[in-house]
Amino acid sequence: FADKTLAGKKVLLTAGPTFEPIDPVRGITNISSGKMGYALARACRDAGAEVVLVSGPTALAGPVGVERVDVTTAQQMHDAVMARAAASDVFVAVAAVADYRVANAAEHKLKKQGAAPTLELVENPDILAAVAALPNGPFCVGFAAESQHLIDFAEAKRQKKGVPLLVANLVQTAMGSDANEVVLLDDAGSHPLPIMTKDEVAVAIVRHLARQLTASQGQ
Ligand code: C5P
Repeated sequence: FADKTLAGKKVLLTAGPTFEPIDPVRGITNISSGKMGYALARACRDAGAEVVLVSGPTALAGPVGVERVDVTTAQQMHDAVMARAAASDVFVAVAAVADYRVANAAEHKLKKQGAAPTLELVENPDILAAVAALPNGPFCVGFAAESQHLIDFAEAKRQKKGVPLLVANLVQTAMGSDANEVVLLDDAGSHPLPIMTKDEVAVAIVRHLARQLTASQGQ
């Protein structure tokens, strides 16, 4: 990595799944491995940035030279991010955040007796949308994992969340795998990248975002 395109920049990232408790031993989560987010954290570090990685539960080792903040729930991830967002130059939301949490989580382990329990769900905060709405906030990059209509759904998401750069991928290719095939969406249109390892995809994303960041600061 000869070019330190993010030298002097503070980059905040989220990665991995979140875990929303049902009771002290059970919860709702998803199959995100955290690999793409961790690869991006390393690529940002290698590009010279000071990196903070807010991570949901994963089996991955924290990248050397990256500050890792471990969280469990979406609310904890939101709070950890909002405490650091204003001081960051770039925010990259890679985490697969649970859309809902259990409102009536039990204090004690649920027993199998009587009628089946009903889980009451309430919506979690949208971390990316919250950061993107900050006045003078960081340059925001989002991810969109879709299972169909990739470009249309992802571009709609980019507009709705108000982010300048969105990385779209098919869940079928991305989740859990070491490889990924993504399309970068920005104001100029869509930029498909070839299928590559997540480390290579991360380097390509950093290159693209560094260029956009420089252009936005030059205005
Ligand atoms: O709406 P959807 O979950 O598909 O959007 C995906 C993007 O939004 C990802 O960048 C993800 O990290 C972010 N996100 C978030 N907080 C949520 C839900 C999604 O930051 N509660």
